[in-house]
Amino acid sequence: MAKIIVTDREGATHEVEGKVGLSIMETLRELENGVEALCGGMCSCCTCHCYIEPEWFAQLPRRQDDEEELLAEGESYRAETSRLTCQVEFTAALDGIRLTVAPEE
Ligand code: FES
Repeated sequence: MAKIIVTDREGATHEVEGKVGLSIMETLRELENGVEALCGGMCSCCTCHCYIEPEWFAQLPRRQDDEEELLAEGESYRAETSRLTCQVEFTAALDGIRLTVAPEE
């Protein structure tokens, strides 16, 4: 079992089982205070925005241009840690990844 450790918008931390082969968003949207993922993973709503802990962020594939552009439009964007979790595939190598749900905009 591969875990995702997520801090929600209320500041509570949860350890949840990630779905290997699917995006991280698919797990986070099932949490009570997780992400809304309004566009369903189409990289067009920004409601799956999370901050990835730096040591984990460095292990992820780089952001594509469309993800980068959408994130950069938001006030809560942080160049060093922001990701749209619908654009990040969860793999077994990411077991233990830590992230925080970004504020609502
Ligand atoms: S779910 Fe809409 S951008 Fe990720």
